[in-house]
Amino acid sequence: MSGTITVAVLGCGYWGPNIIRNFHQLPGAHLLSVCDLRQDRLDYVKEHFPNVETTLEVESLLARTDIDAFVVTTPADNHFSLTKRVLEADKHVLVEKPLALTSDECRELIELAESKGKTLMVGHTFLYNAAVRKLKQFVDNNELGDIYYVYSSRLNLGRIRSDINAMWNFAPHDVSIILYLVGQEPVSVSAKGQSYIQPGIEDVVFMHLDFDDGMKAMIHISWLDPNKVRRMTVVGSKKMVVYDDVSRDAKIVVYDKGIDKININESFGEFEGFGEFQLRLRAGDMFIPEIDFVEPLKVECSHFIDCIVNGKKPLTDGEEGLRGVKVLEAAQQSLKHDGAAVKIS
Ligand SMILES: NC(=O)c1ccc[n+]([C@@H]2O[C@H](COP(=O)([O-])OP(=O)(O)OC[C@H]3O[C@@H](n4cnc5c(N)ncnc54)[C@H](O)[C@@H]3O)[C@@H](O)[C@H]2O)c1
Repeated sequence: MSGTITVAVLGCGYWGPNIIRNFHQLPGAHLLSVCDLRQDRLDYVKEHFPNVETTLEVESLLARTDIDAFVVTTPADNHFSLTKRVLEADKHVLVEKPLALTSDECRELIELAESKGKTLMVGHTFLYNAAVRKLKQFVDNNELGDIYYVYSSRLNLGRIRSDINAMWNFAPHDVSIILYLVGQEPVSVSAKGQSYIQPGIEDVVFMHLDFDDGMKAMIHISWLDPNKVRRMTVVGSKKMVVYDDVSRDAKIVVYDKGIDKININESFGEFEGFGEFQLRLRAGDMFIPEIDFVEPLKVECSHFIDCIVNGKKPLTDGEEGLRGVKVLEAAQQSLKHDGAAVKIS
């Protein structure tokens, strides 16, 4: 496929305007139309993007032959049905996170995209974030050593939803970052949470991910917290890193800190017993790497167009979406069973 990719956006609520702005400015893309079920949201589009068409009619938009690709920016509970309709209409699709609400739905979308020969990409925006990519470089270059554990907090007060709980709303980001960094899926997940504001919709969730090699991850999610926090700590055998997405000029801080095992008698060779080594605390330098920051959503939208034009596999393809949903699905089951560990197949 060559030339300009004509794009339509479904959904213009809180996040849609960011998607619309990016596709409106993106070389190689032509944003033709925005669809929402609310007229006031279409009025917003008309006011800010006067040359973009607007419509309340999803089906008539899907039937148009002059549109190559759709972006689904609607609430999570209709991601599956809308993405399926888009693929059935022979269009490429970028769908916001989460890809769907069950792993079976994700698999159906992956198979459909394959059979139609269309690009299916999920909006795991943080994998297009320069700070996360820098962190990934540190992990891949073995600068942190073996990853012992990771923990993450994504907290703020508000943007409370009633269609999904705080975990489904925020944790797709943490799960995608952690799985990307460590390059493996957890074998089991457990989660405990509580609904304070609306019955049955958890406002706060603590998730635990267990990996085959003993690595652990913990994710704390809340929309009922006094502070906006977006922080992840990665503890490795050689170094430790704190990634603070809210920080302006120190998004990544690398700590040359750890505990070294010192052989107290070279002739013992291996460290087989406690008496043969000492633990030495290493509290070395801190380092703030330079990050060439570009708006992650811009990188994501541009990657979507590149994948369509050049037939590339997206970094955040359907399989990536499925990996995230498997974790959240297991965590949701665990929530129902008061934190019992749920295995992931
Ligand atoms: N990648 C990110 O960092 C990020 C950030 C925020 C939200 N999101 C995702 O974006 C999506 C939208 O979130 P939001 O906060 O904007 O939600 P929202 O509820 O504010 O907006 C959703 C919009 O979709 C419209 N809509 C609903 N059904 C529709 C349909 N069938 N056809 C067309 N329009 C329809 C609604 O009228 C509404 O205007 C969610 O999936 C969310 O997870 C992603």
